[in-house]
This record gives sequence, C-alpha cells and structure tokens, in this order.
Amino acid sequence: MPAPLGKLSVEHFLAEYWQKQPCLIRQAFPGFTPELEGDDLAGLACEPMAESRIVTGSFPEHDWSLRNGPFGDADFAGLPETRWTLLVQDVEKHYPPLMELMEQFCFLPGWRLDDLMISYAAPGGSVGPHVDQYDVFLLQAEGQRRWQVSGQYDPALLEDCALNVLKTFEPEQEWLLEPGDMLYLPPGVAHHGVALTAGMTWSIGLRAPDVADLLMAMGERLAGDTVARYQDPDLKADGRSGEIDSKALERLKQLMSAPLNDEPGFRRFAGEFLTRFRLAQEPAPPDESLSADELVTQLAAGAQLFRNPWTRLAWVETADGALLFAAGTGFECSIALAQRLCARTEPDLSGFPLDDRDFATLSELVDTGHFAWID
Ligand code: SIN
Ligand code: CO
Repeated sequence: MPAPLGKLSVEHFLAEYWQKQPCLIRQAFPGFTPELEGDDLAGLACEPMAESRIVTGSFPEHDWSLRNGPFGDADFAGLPETRWTLLVQDVEKHYPPLMELMEQFCFLPGWRLDDLMISYAAPGGSVGPHVDQYDVFLLQAEGQRRWQVSGQYDPALLEDCALNVLKTFEPEQEWLLEPGDMLYLPPGVAHHGVALTAGMTWSIGLRAPDVADLLMAMGERLAGDTVARYQDPDLKADGRSGEIDSKALERLKQLMSAPLNDEPGFRRFAGEFLTRFRLAQEPAPPDESLSADELVTQLAAGAQLFRNPWTRLAWVETADGALLFAAGTGFECSIALAQRLCARTEPDLSGFPLDDRDFATLSELVDTGHFAWID
C-alpha cells in the first residue's frame, strides 16, 4: 500500500520530518472525496456514545466557548453562520469504512495510531492556537483552511478558558490547504487552523505513552502479583540513621528495574498496556459464541473476518512464535498469523494454513468479539 506522502519516500519522511518538523504534503490524497459529510458528523455528534465538542470563537479576540455533546438538532439550528467548529473523536470506530484510511498509515507502527478525529468548521471556525502532545496528520477533506505554525512560542495559556488556547501566537510559517492536502505536525509545535470556507479537517492522531503512564500501568500490573520486597542483608552501621544512603538508593533502583529486565514479562506488559492505552471503549463479546466446527465451515467457505474497530491489535515475538494482543489480552499464535491479522481490518486468511494453536487463537478472538464475520 503506497504511503500518502506525495513525492516523499517513507524513509525520507521518517528521517527528515517524523517527530522533528512540520511537513506539508500537497495532494497526499489526490482527488480526495470524503466518505462522510458534515451532516453525517452532526448526526454522529447527537449519539451519546460519540465524544463530540462544539467550539465557538476566534483568535485574537479570544471569545471562546466550549460545549460537549451529545447534541440535538436545536444545538445545530442555533449556531451562527461563522466562527464555530464541531469536533468528533474516534470517528473511524463509529464508521468502520474509514478504517481503510487509517490503514494507509501502516508505514508507522500500528500501536502508535490513535484515532481519526473529524472537525467540521464554518467559515472563520478555529479551536484557537494551541500545542498538542501527539503527532498528527491534518488532512484537509473539504473546503479551504489556513494553517499557521510556530516552533517558538510563549507557552502561557489563556486563563479561565476551558480550551487549551495559547494567550499569544506569532506564526513562523503558514499554508493554505485544499482538499487532499495534508499537514504533518510533530508534538510541541504551536498551530492554528482557520477555516476560510466551510469544510472538514480529518486529523489522524498518534499516541505515545509518557513515563508516568508506563510506570502507573506497571504498578497496577505488579500490584496483583507476589513481588519482591526491599531487602538489605549487607547493611552496615554508619551513624547517619536519618539518611536514605546511596546504597539504599541503589538497592531501590535495582528492585524497581527488575520487572523491566524480565524480558518475557516486559514484552507481555508492553503488549497488554499498549493495546488498551487510551482506548475509549472495550470491545464487547458477541451474543452467541461460535463452535469450532462453525469456524472451520466459515473459513472453508471463504467468509471474511472483520476486526472490531475498538480492538487494537499488536504482537511481540516470543521464544516460540508470537504473543498477539487484542485490547489488552494476549493470545499465543504464529508470527505469520499475527502479521496477517494486524495487516488489515479485513485480514486475508484465504489459503492460510492454521495449525491447532492458530486455530484456537482465532476462535478465541472471534468468541471474545475482537473479530466478527462480515455478512
Ligand atoms: C481542528 O480540526 O480544528 C483542530 C485540529 C488540531 O488542531 O489538532
Ligand atoms: Co491541534
């Protein structure tokens, strides 16, 4: 699948831009026509299970207001002609055909992809100049939008404002994006997008845990186990009983690093944590489970499986194959099956030789609702 990077090769993009500097890709998606319109987005924003916001206001006036969904028809009817934006998170999970768009970002590790957030803005609509902690690809899906960015900025935020808006903002660079154009921004670059005409921006958002996320998750995982406790059989008296001395500090560090140095344990931890981190919904098991015979019959008939859009999948290599993680649960299987299942939302299993272990994993994945058959 060619990466949507225009003339840039993946290698060039990763070496020069990824996590380093903004990159404008003209016609990353030539002739792009959105599969979803502003009205569909408004419809989704009326559903309680979708996370949505309406932001009104502009910069430099700083007359911001923020409302959270779900919304009703009256909310949309009451909006002015200009200067508002509707934003909905996780749209590809609510509208699974859009998973195909996400698949085009498979030049990045799948576990780094977060969601597709779609914004619909009236002319003049903006969420204000701000800084995000995550990488993002801002695809202009409809209408024109001007993006201004700056690597150097005063981090002071506007006080008493529900939005994280920068008080001041001096752009260093700006671009006008047309449908199909895409702007990549690394974390920590201030940006301000203003709709020049009514239109949509589709944000393909990445995610990355910070050290607190990781240590908290590790702590939660260890809390349920019988784990090593601090010991000091080599203790020497030194007359400084109030001090936590450097030997004690060293023992504490060693105690804390033991779970990180347990390679199989750490691999399992990483897979479990990274496939459920920032997941807004747990995939639900199906009403009826499938017998092994039915699974064999379905596969033989060439039936197509579809991954639950809320299921994040990733695998780690183990001594005898792979541990495939689905939304926090690990399943043993072959590397070949793990790769097939991760590669596409509708994985190609035609002619795939399933041994007993792979068969058991596949049937568990179906039974637990991570995969379903397409009718
Ligand atoms: C937007 O689509 O209006 C905001 C996207 C962003 O700045 O991250
Ligand atoms: Co942003």
